[in-house]
Amino acid sequence: MNILVTGGAGYIGSHTCVALLEAGHTVIIADNLCNSKAETIDKIKEIVNQTSNENIDNQITFYKIDVTNEEAMGAIFTNHKIDGVIHFAGLKAVGESVEKPLEYYYNNIVSTMFLAKACGKYGVKKFVFSSSATVYGDNTVPFVETMKLLPTTNPYGETKAMSERILTDVVKANPDLSVALLRYFNPVGAHTSGLIGEAPNGVPNNLMPYVTQVAKGKLKQLRVFGNDYPTEDGTGVRDYIHVVDLADGHVVALDKLESGLHIYNLGTGKGTSVLQLVKAFEEANGIEVPYEIVDRRSGDIASCYADASKANDELGWIAKRGIVEMCRDAWRFEKNYKE
Ligand code: NAD
Ligand code: WQD
Repeated sequence: MNILVTGGAGYIGSHTCVALLEAGHTVIIADNLCNSKAETIDKIKEIVNQTSNENIDNQITFYKIDVTNEEAMGAIFTNHKIDGVIHFAGLKAVGESVEKPLEYYYNNIVSTMFLAKACGKYGVKKFVFSSSATVYGDNTVPFVETMKLLPTTNPYGETKAMSERILTDVVKANPDLSVALLRYFNPVGAHTSGLIGEAPNGVPNNLMPYVTQVAKGKLKQLRVFGNDYPTEDGTGVRDYIHVVDLADGHVVALDKLESGLHIYNLGTGKGTSVLQLVKAFEEANGIEVPYEIVDRRSGDIASCYADASKANDELGWIAKRGIVEMCRDAWRFEKNYKE
């Protein structure tokens, strides 16, 4: 299939492009590079060409383009016969979304609306959307797809909840379109080649890139946000999922997508605390990660992990990689990465 991947130069998008190409699909990437680099496209080609019998360079096309530019995006739909869209493009920094809500609402909502509209106009049948466990709010763990969603705590989360509602209505109005809302838990790790991975701009907000940068000596020590949560060791519990497992989930969702709206949690179903992750990282890589306990971070919840059984039952997808592989692969990428 010809798959339009918005945000395909980004962290999850680049790994998904590798998985799509390895599965024999053709990818058309639309990314404005606001949080990624053009070199990533070459790295995707390099990874796939290493294992493929034939050169895949002509199965990947890159457009440096803003997805909210409806006219320019229209030209992509006219030039390529798009069979499916995976919509990763979006702004994702929670703290920044509180400071710049309009940028977040505009970028994340308008892009989703324009793409859904283009699917109707150009007869595209499959749409896969990057949602987030953040839409569950502070529900009781494990989070199940059938749960009533609780309020999100920031504009970023709201853009995901709103995009989900918009796409739900679009499917009702356009029964030819199949939509998968994929709710990711906490994606970490990197491709085993060490060529692509998570490289946030500035000081990382998320735990794993912070840990890898402390291990590299770029940051002095980790601040653990609170050890008085009602969890096993008092630190926050999350469902970390290897980005390559997550990427595979997209390929499967696209292949198996049937008409209508389908919601899937993409997580491992296992919770890991901050201190357990630090210990796993130290053991996997033989490196010490100094840390101090500080106050809770505003907006954080105690525990967040998935009931991942629906994706397993309906798609046959299951996360295969454990926390040790996540830590090892994240560190390999960080060591290799040059700014
Ligand atoms: P990322 O920032 O690495 O990738 C997003 C890509 O989209 C970047 O390459 C960026 O340049 C591009 N982009 C942003 N706005 C654009 C626009 N208007 N036009 C064209 N390109 C644009 O982020 P990621 O971690 O790969 O996340 C991908 C998606 O998954 C996002 O929608 C994010 O909200 C969602 N998500 C991420 C996480 C996470 O923890 N990483 C968790 C849940 C959901
Ligand atoms: C994980 C745990 C922190 C950094 C965020 C978004 C969510 C989704 C994934 C996009 C928590 C603790 C963190 C640090 C720490 N993104 N921590 N010190 O908050 O679960 O989710 O990213 O959709 O929407 O909110 O991820 O990696 O920031 O935090 O102690 O320096 O690590 O308190 O318990 P989070 P995270």
